[in-house]
Amino acid sequence: MVKVLFVCLGNICRSPMAEAIFRDLVKRENLEEIIHVDSAGTSSWHVGARPHKGTLKKLEEYQISSEGMLGRQFTKEDFEKFDYIIAMDEMNIHDIYDICGQPRHPKIMRLLELTDKKTDVPDPYYTGDFQETYNLVLEGCQALLDKIKAEM
Ligand code: 4NP
Repeated sequence: MVKVLFVCLGNICRSPMAEAIFRDLVKRENLEEIIHVDSAGTSSWHVGARPHKGTLKKLEEYQISSEGMLGRQFTKEDFEKFDYIIAMDEMNIHDIYDICGQPRHPKIMRLLELTDKKTDVPDPYYTGDFQETYNLVLEGCQALLDKIKAEM
């Protein structure tokens, strides 16, 4: 089993969007038995909460399931458990290392590093632009799936 964890700050906007989009891509390729997908936030602010309504609206628009997703906080154990820990921005990377107390590790990366954008995923909690985030997250998720398949 290959385990993939998406991480953002609140676990209500970007990382649940990435989790849902990536799970959809995995399902389309019949890889659900092989690739496990989850998401978490570096903060505890939205533990137990459903994704932001802007994220839910985008997922619904693209007919992607958001079933069962509830906010949770990233833990030290996640570092051990997951094979790919995919952050949305540089601050998430910093916070992940703070929480897990590990030296730099190649399994922790920014989503858009895998594309030619090589930048942070804008946070729609502040920008209000869920479409821009959706487009970038989809591009990153496609690149991530290609990488995982190449490494399987
Ligand atoms: P996310 O966005 O990290 O993409 O889930 C945020 C969600 C909530 C807050 C900040 C960012 N907040 O301040 O509550």
